[in-house]
Amino acid sequence: MKSESQVAVITGAGSGIGKACALRFAHAGANVVVVDCDDKAGQQTVNDLKDIGTEAIFCHADVSREQNCIAFAGQAIHRFGHIDVLVANAGIRAFGTILENTEDDWDRMLAVNLKGVNFSCKAVLPKMIEQKSGAIVLIGSTTAMTGRTNMPIYDVTKFGVLSLNRSLAATYGKFGIRVNTICPSKTITEFHLNKAKAQGISPDAFRAQFEDYGLLGRAGEPAEIAAAVYFMASQEASFITGQHLMVDGGYSIGAKPFT
Ligand SMILES: NC(=O)c1ccc[n+]([C@@H]2O[C@H](COP(=O)([O-])OP(=O)(O)OC[C@H]3O[C@@H](n4cnc5c(N)ncnc54)[C@H](O)[C@@H]3O)[C@@H](O)[C@H]2O)c1
Repeated sequence: MKSESQVAVITGAGSGIGKACALRFAHAGANVVVVDCDDKAGQQTVNDLKDIGTEAIFCHADVSREQNCIAFAGQAIHRFGHIDVLVANAGIRAFGTILENTEDDWDRMLAVNLKGVNFSCKAVLPKMIEQKSGAIVLIGSTTAMTGRTNMPIYDVTKFGVLSLNRSLAATYGKFGIRVNTICPSKTITEFHLNKAKAQGISPDAFRAQFEDYGLLGRAGEPAEIAAAVYFMASQEASFITGQHLMVDGGYSIGAKPFT
């Protein structure tokens, strides 16, 4: 089957920023391929998309496994006939200092956040090359550039994503494929709200903790990241490639709000 609508493949679309991206593309009329290693969460996203009239399928995949990525790209092509957009969003966290981090932490983080992003891109690229078109949006992180104390491996992987971004953009631009990265800063997802709830902290009280954050005095919301991802993937960004955009309420410029 060849679909006339845009087809967006989104990894880690079972929750948080990935789910917000799925909804953003769906509201713009795209068909959505929901990729996640969490079947329940991924299927729930598909159900939510179908509720708003979107054609959506769920593909179970652990993006750190290359064969899983080849499989989700195949499922997307089988169902819709083409792949216009990949949002390589799936990512995991590891906390602690370098002294606390283990070899296993390094292997796990590199496997998902770096190799997984690479395998996801590698899986869709043959179809995009054949089409001579495609937009890939990687999800980085503001802290890859600013640095911080307690997530060194995570920040290394996100810095690696920026390098991959440039390599992919340089190599595949001649096929009409654009590659860009959106770098969110603190973005409040269900993960954070559930963690807060377990500690007896309400969503409002949790958000209030960020009143000194960035230049806008608040953390971001998943829909705000999804809006930037959508822009980068859209025709509005047709001459933008190899770039990264900080979507961080001004956090990364390091300035203090004017008082
Ligand atoms: N939330 C933030 O504050 C923030 C800030 C900067 C960057 N980011 C980045 O944004 C992306 C999304 O973050 P989030 O906060 O929405 O995370 P989240 O934990 O809410 O969601 C991540 C999703 O990815 C899925 N996933 C995890 N490992 C996977 C794997 N190996 N294969 C397939 N799916 C997998 C999870 O099941 C989950 O549905 C990540 O790359 C993260 O590093 C988030």
